[in-house]
Formats: sequence, structure tokens, C-alpha cells
Amino acid sequence: MDEAHAAPAGLWKRYAGHFRIGAAVNRRTLDSHARLLAEHFNSITAENEMKWGSIEPNPDDFRFEVPDRMAAFATARGIGIRGHTLVWHNQTPAWVFSGGRMELAERMRRHIQAVVGRYRGRIYCWDVVNEAVADAGGDRLRASPWLEGMGEDYIAHAFQLAHGADPDATLFYNDYNETDPGKRAKIHGLVGDLRREGVPVHGIGLQGHWRLDAPSARDIRASLDLYASLGVRLQVTELDVSVHAGREPAAGAAEPAPELLERQAERYAEIFAIFREYRAVIDAVTLWGIADDATWLDNFPVRGRKDWPLLFDTHHRPKPAFAAVARGVEPAR
Ligand code: XIL
Repeated sequence: MDEAHAAPAGLWKRYAGHFRIGAAVNRRTLDSHARLLAEHFNSITAENEMKWGSIEPNPDDFRFEVPDRMAAFATARGIGIRGHTLVWHNQTPAWVFSGGRMELAERMRRHIQAVVGRYRGRIYCWDVVNEAVADAGGDRLRASPWLEGMGEDYIAHAFQLAHGADPDATLFYNDYNETDPGKRAKIHGLVGDLRREGVPVHGIGLQGHWRLDAPSARDIRASLDLYASLGVRLQVTELDVSVHAGREPAAGAAEPAPELLERQAERYAEIFAIFREYRAVIDAVTLWGIADDATWLDNFPVRGRKDWPLLFDTHHRPKPAFAAVARGVEPAR
């Protein structure tokens, strides 16, 4: 076959000697993006469908239909599944937080046992607690309804329950702004304390919602070093590289300027070169989506502002960013 027309070797195969390449999927993209998924990714994360509000919207009313479909899709293709997420302050129904400490702890127990138990042996890792650390200020923990309702040990409790429900799953603490020097010190402190107390937390997830200009390579390396010093596994769990610098309103462009896509490709090259350096501690790098036609950044942090943060374009064609990531490694033969 003419080299120029040869399909690029699947990304996950190229990275087989390094780490898994994952993607967030949702109930729609599981079908609409199935071809790209199967070709390039060997780990999937449910974008919303395993969050508390989706999977247990009412007490003991579990909705496993879509998560089961995702699990079947993955299992049939030898793709791993990351579980996301058990205990979070967002996308969790209000009923979970009504009542006192004992009631919250009991709901947490039923939820974790049901959800982790159902996918025991099939979901290889779980984001057990998501975003518990405060961004700024002196406090280590975010003022969340979990903290208010159960006190600080809601975190340890969640990890113990998850470990009981699937002793083989790798259990992660997952957060954003994870490369910020102040916040990374708090995340390091929290996970270090938990591990000293014997709590089964095995990994730290770096969400990786990054931009063209930030965080710096220096902060990325410093964060990977600091987290790895705890002796835990690392994953980049929600990587995307926004082409926007901040919260400025939409420029109105229907397509990204070619030079912007080139800058993004250079940025992806830089980021993946760092990840490859750390392959001894990084087990997976998951993109928060597959192609630019389905990205949460179209509505975050500004509603209705188009963004192009992923490796494939709105027509599912590989972008310069894809080539930059693929170029870093030779295809496996
Ligand atoms: C986002 C989803 O992508 C959106 O579809 C949803 O509306 C909000 O949540 N950190 C996380 C993810 O841990 O679960 C979030 O996902 C993005 C930020």
C-alpha cells in the first residue's frame, strides 16, 4: 500500500511498551466514535454514566444499562475500563446528603458495594474519590457536603469500601489543578497521610485539563516527581489541551486557525515526551474525549464557545496533534 495512504498504526499499539492510551466515552460516542475507539484506544472511562447521579439517581435505584453496554464494548475488544467516579461533590443527588453521618456512611457503603461489586474483575481501576482537595487558601480539604456530613474520614472510608468490593482494582485519588504548586502539596499531603494510616489508595490521577500555555513542563515534571515519591501508580485521567487561554468569549470562528493547531501539536508533543520519560510510574494516559465534535470544553468554562482540544477533528480525521503524539514512538511490528 502507498505509504501516504496507509492508515496510521493504532495509537495504543504504538504505546504498548509505555502505557495505556485511554478515552472518555459517553452513551452517544460509544457508537458514533466506535471505529476510532477500537483502533486507537485500549482504555475507556465513562464521561458521566458511572457517576452517582447517573448510576443511582434514587436510593437503591441502579441504572446499569449504559455502563453495561460500555463494559460489553470494552470486554469484546480487549479494552480496559477505568471506573469514574464513586465519591464526588458534583453530579451527586441531594438525597445522598440528607441526614447525619451514619446515614451518609450507609449510603456510601450500599453505593460502592453495588457499583464496584457489579464490575468486579472487569474495571481495572477506580477513581474512588474525586476532587476532595481545596484549590486555594489554607484548608487542605474542600468544603463539600461529604466533608460536612461525614467529617474528614469520608475519604478513608470510601477507599476501604472500594477495596473490600474489589481487592484487585487499583484505587485512585483523582484531582484537577494537580500541577499547581500549592494544590499539589496538599494532594501529596493527603495521599501520604492516608497511606501512612494503611488506607488502600494505590494511585493518583492527574486530570490534565491543560492549555497551550499552561501548566509549564517544569510544573508537570515537579508534580509527577512529587506524586511518584509516595510510591503510588500515576495516571493522566482526563487530558485535553484547550486552544483558549482563559474565559474570553467565543471568537466566533467555525474552525481553528491552522497555526493554532500547529501550536497544539507542539504542546501535545512536549506533554507526551514528558509522559514517556515517566513511563515507569505512569500506567495510562486518558484523553477526555475522542474527537473535537464531542468535547465538554464546548460548554466549559464558557457555555457555547467551540473548543478543539483532542487528537481527532470534528470529522474524525487525525489532527496535527495526533501525528505529534504518534511520532513519539515507532509502531509495534
Ligand atoms: C464532565 C463531563 O465531561 C461533562 O459532560 C459533565 O457535564 C460535567 O463533568 N472533572 C471530572 C469529570 O472529574 O468527571 C468532568 O467531566 C470534568 C472535570
